Amino acid sequence: MKDNIVIHGLTFRPFLSRQQIAERANQLGQRISRDYQGKRPLFLAVLNGAFIFAADLMRACEIDCAITFIRLASYEGLASSGQVKTVIGLQEDIKGRDVIIVEDIVDTGQTMSQFMPQLEQMEPASVALASLLVKTEALECEVDIKYTGFEIPNKFVIGYGLDYDGLGRNIPEIYQLAD
Ligand code: IMP
Repeated sequence: MKDNIVIHGLTFRPFLSRQQIAERANQLGQRISRDYQGKRPLFLAVLNGAFIFAADLMRACEIDCAITFIRLASYEGLASSGQVKTVIGLQEDIKGRDVIIVEDIVDTGQTMSQFMPQLEQMEPASVALASLLVKTEALECEVDIKYTGFEIPNKFVIGYGLDYDGLGRNIPEIYQLAD
């Protein structure tokens, strides 16, 4: 893991290693496998940020499961805009399915608190949220997060799918904005 990474002039410091992330993704995958025994959950991965976590989480699941992708946008640069737009709609019929939304990070909680009720209207059998990261101190809305990877401080992070203005998603570890 490199010491520091500079993206668009901002310095980011090492925060979570590949091993820490892999271990946590495996633990969550095993929990999901137990909780959904005898079921066939549908992972709903939120693009772009969750694509790497969703791939690792799905591979850690030992039960039959499926995946589909949606895109929501509420973020520009370093601050949440609070606006939620569905850019790529849901192709799959989720009626009667056990849906597990896969998010990279819950920050203010605006995105999920608006999206989860929309999803409920499509009559899935159940909806659960798995988020790799949760900025607990930044939460402004009530969001029911069933599977949390790490609770983290309210600082901007990049890597492992998370970006800063389009860059940093390919970094295998997670880095945090330096003070
Ligand atoms: P929320 O609606 O404020 O909870 O924001 C959720 C979305 O904001 C996430 O899916 C990310 O795309 C983005 N986001 C929030 N915090 C960060 C961060 O620290 N790094 C990168 N993206 C973030």
